[in-house]
Amino acid sequence: MMDESKLNAEPTEALGTETSRRTFVRVAVAGMGLAYAGAIGYPIFRYLNSNVEKEAELAAIKEVTLKDAGKLPKGSILMFKFGPRPAMLIHHADDTWSAFEAVCTHMGCTVGYDAARERIACQCHGGQYDPKTGENVGGPPPRPLMKYNLVMSKGLATVTRI
Ligand code: FES
Repeated sequence: MMDESKLNAEPTEALGTETSRRTFVRVAVAGMGLAYAGAIGYPIFRYLNSNVEKEAELAAIKEVTLKDAGKLPKGSILMFKFGPRPAMLIHHADDTWSAFEAVCTHMGCTVGYDAARERIACQCHGGQYDPKTGENVGGPPPRPLMKYNLVMSKGLATVTRI
């Protein structure tokens, strides 16, 4: 004759094991879901938030002084930062000066100076800008570069936003 208490005990243990497996799988799936959401969501949050932070930092900066600007040879440029944004000071061959935000108005690449062609050039898609006015003169950029106010005095360049 079988012990009835053992017969009743086995299904209860099996049920308990099945329940804990299901719980484990649910917790594991939920954990993986959270980890996956975090892996995707955090970089998106950082990207969006960094733009807000950069705009706040940019708004706080009104002026940049470049101490050794006077040493810049004619026909060359000095790249600098205006807050979080790249900028360029140009000393033209005719001894005039200009300063621009060095951010292409097409898709935001940093522009450089092509001295041989006397153009501000964007390497991303071939955008071209006039180095004296910042006017968009070739390629896909839809607008001129943002021009800064510039005062040159005793070798110092004082760059301010218009
Ligand atoms: S980002 Fe400069 S031309 Fe496209």
